[in-house]
Amino acid sequence: MGKKRAFFKEALKSMKTSGSFIPSSKYLVKRIVKNIDFEKSNVIIEFGPGNGIITKEILNRLNPNAILLSFEINENFYKNIKQIDHKQLIVLNVSAEDVQVEIEKRGFKKVDAVISSLPLSLLPKELSNSIIKKSHIILKDKGQFVQFQYSVNFLKQFKSIFENKVKLEFEPLNFPPAFVYICKK
Ligand SMILES: C[S@@+](CC[C@H](N)C(=O)[O-])C[C@H]1O[C@@H](n2cnc3c(N)ncnc32)[C@H](O)[C@@H]1O
Repeated sequence: MGKKRAFFKEALKSMKTSGSFIPSSKYLVKRIVKNIDFEKSNVIIEFGPGNGIITKEILNRLNPNAILLSFEINENFYKNIKQIDHKQLIVLNVSAEDVQVEIEKRGFKKVDAVISSLPLSLLPKELSNSIIKKSHIILKDKGQFVQFQYSVNFLKQFKSIFENKVKLEFEPLNFPPAFVYICKK
């Protein structure tokens, strides 16, 4: 089965946590990752890799000393991502809300960047707020939190946590067209 079709089938089964039937377009993926300074980033977190379209682009750009920790709660997406054979990738079948505990287990206090595809609008408000707050806590100074969504509804929430250091970009070449929130600590 093709990768897009497999994603569609799995996303359909778990629509409440997937948030989309179709993986992000290459245009959206590029718009997301271009915000990260990969040369200076040694610990990168990804939330919601799904079929791995963003994961692979991050891996292509990682510096040789960096690691990528990907958090995926869907068991089938997790198993699929685990098959990516890359020594700098750690995939966890754990929710994004446990990010702080998981990085500390691995001896890290702070991270350089968080790249999130979580369907925030489908999560309970307390959960989305807690994930964004925890991401802010674990980011190094000037670290970046990059999140895509299909609306601008989260602008106020991001601004309340990242103290107005939030930029919004729009990517029309995606289905549906998407907004990218770029938040700096
Ligand atoms: C919209 S899909 C994004 C897939 C892919 N990154 C892309 O851009 O096409 C959202 C992903 O977030 C995952 N997810 C939802 N809630 C999560 C959570 N609390 N922790 C980790 N992953 C989660 C879903 O299982 C799904 O794979």
